[in-house]
Amino acid sequence: MTKFITFEGVDGAGKSTHLAWFADALRERGMDVIVTREPGGTPLGEQLREIVLNQPMSMGTEAMLMFASRLEHVEQVIQPALRAGKRVISDRFSDASFAYQGAGRGMSWEKLAQLEQWVPLQPDLTLFFDVPIEVARQRLANNVSLDRFEQEQGEFFERVRAGYHRRVAENPARYVVIDAAQSLASVQQQLAVIIEAIE
Ligand code: TYD
Repeated sequence: MTKFITFEGVDGAGKSTHLAWFADALRERGMDVIVTREPGGTPLGEQLREIVLNQPMSMGTEAMLMFASRLEHVEQVIQPALRAGKRVISDRFSDASFAYQGAGRGMSWEKLAQLEQWVPLQPDLTLFFDVPIEVARQRLANNVSLDRFEQEQGEFFERVRAGYHRRVAENPARYVVIDAAQSLASVQQQLAVIIEAIE
């Protein structure tokens, strides 16, 4: 059964907009759905989010804070909801740490895999919203305040995108890759097919 679903993609891929639509579509099918996000998802996690998105820090500190926020999130929110029979949709999860701190910042995959051992579960399904970086950058251009990640240059996001593709290649069965360069309606059509298949 598909109980824990995560949404991933570079900043500007449109995943947060699609996530809200997707969650509503599952609810219309009678499913009990909670929506959450990372970094964040708990009071402590949201405090960590504020720090990690805005304060300069070393790559290792950044990675450990992402995983600290995740552990809290899993224990306080995700596992209790799953035990209560709910579906959980998270806006980002461990894949984002491999893509951003690993491929983006240059932290080794091995060190991240060690941190991942603290995380007691994997998503059942991950939707990766894939988009050319030029398109993603254009979508962010209207944002007035950009966080530490959004302020990065195009090459950083090219690496992040490649990092996501590496994760997909390592475990293809868990992912659906969505062509997020398409119009909203066309992406929703791609999502509708996935929703049909969710039990
Ligand atoms: P994002 O989903 O983009 O939030 P918003 O749409 O509200 O801006 O997530 C915030 C940023 O955090 C994003 O730039 C990616 C970054 N991030 C990491 O670098 N590593 C992680 O493990 C996670 C969960 C997020």
